[in-house]
Amino acid sequence: MRRAVVEGLGIYLPKRAVTNAELAAMVDTTDEWIVERTGIKKRHIAADGEFTSHLAINSAKAALADAGMEAREIDLIILATSTPDNTFPATATAVQEALGITHGAAFDVQAVCSGFIYAMTTANSFIVSGQANNVLVIGAETFSRILDWKDRTTCVLFGDGAGALVLCGTEVDEANDDNRGIHVCRLRSDGRYKDKLYVDGGPSTTKTVGHLRMEGREVFKHAVNNIASVMQETLDEAGVKPTDVDLFVPHQANVRILEGTARKIGLDLEKVVITVGEHGNTSAASVPLALGVAIEQHRLRKGDLVLLEAMGGGFTWGAVLLRW
Ligand code: ACO
Repeated sequence: MRRAVVEGLGIYLPKRAVTNAELAAMVDTTDEWIVERTGIKKRHIAADGEFTSHLAINSAKAALADAGMEAREIDLIILATSTPDNTFPATATAVQEALGITHGAAFDVQAVCSGFIYAMTTANSFIVSGQANNVLVIGAETFSRILDWKDRTTCVLFGDGAGALVLCGTEVDEANDDNRGIHVCRLRSDGRYKDKLYVDGGPSTTKTVGHLRMEGREVFKHAVNNIASVMQETLDEAGVKPTDVDLFVPHQANVRILEGTARKIGLDLEKVVITVGEHGNTSAASVPLALGVAIEQHRLRKGDLVLLEAMGGGFTWGAVLLRW
């Protein structure tokens, strides 16, 4: 059977880091409030003229270098973003052009903070079905462009960044549960909650870009239950116990959500990668950024069983279990 195996990872953060103290000079907030309620200490913000595609291209080049592969070996690019350079074409095509790739296909996936999980699941389907061999899966965001910088309830939460994986189709022995690659993907959504976290503009409604709006407490209420249930389903499908997981790499929205989820499902907190303090919530970029930090910290090694999850606007949510 074929599995999608991670062969490379690259991350990119814009140079400028903005501290809570800097935000406290702009809106009525404090470092204490932000740290206590969210765990966030700083976030990176893209420079003027630095677009989502630029962040994506930098992370993609780093992932290719890590895999020891040439861009021409890639036959599919899937870019998860809710902050594309333009309404169309897909920002993935800007990445394709920058990498000098003229074959294969490139498209965007939009599932807000769950975007990377949706993109990995899509890439996995392409690879397992034999429609693609080497896929660049990217999560890249410039949420700073859609924030209302006068709204203290949202502007302190998000940041910009990008991360990319190279996933390669590999023949494995089906009987061996220990082989590397993606083992289970699970996606969910429930559109009844689409107005709890949304952007109040768009080409078809207001003809503007709009700003992010959120009922934070409502999102929080659903987050732990939704994430824990999809993680449990994923583990059950793979027939593994929470204690079998070597590393838990969650979407980074709020430290209270990720610790609450880990506890609910019985995952050791020492196995949880937490980067929200340094990056804020980078939406579709947060999972690959957290994977990159785990590698930098030597916490993630080949053969480790890794559980990824995310939840975001829609609501959308999902999980991926893979052997690194
Ligand atoms: N600084 C100071 N005070 C603030 C700030 C701020 N930046 N923002 C809100 N407050 C105030 C509120 O006005 C409120 O004041 P009031 O009691 O006088 O009305 C008070 O703080 C408490 O507000 P709550 O919204 O109840 O605070 P809560 O503890 O729920 O924390 C937060 C808010 C951090 C948004 C939390 O609800 C949360 O993290 N929700 C999840 C949202 C999220 O992560 N979304 C991302 C996408 S979805 C996902 O990734 C899971």
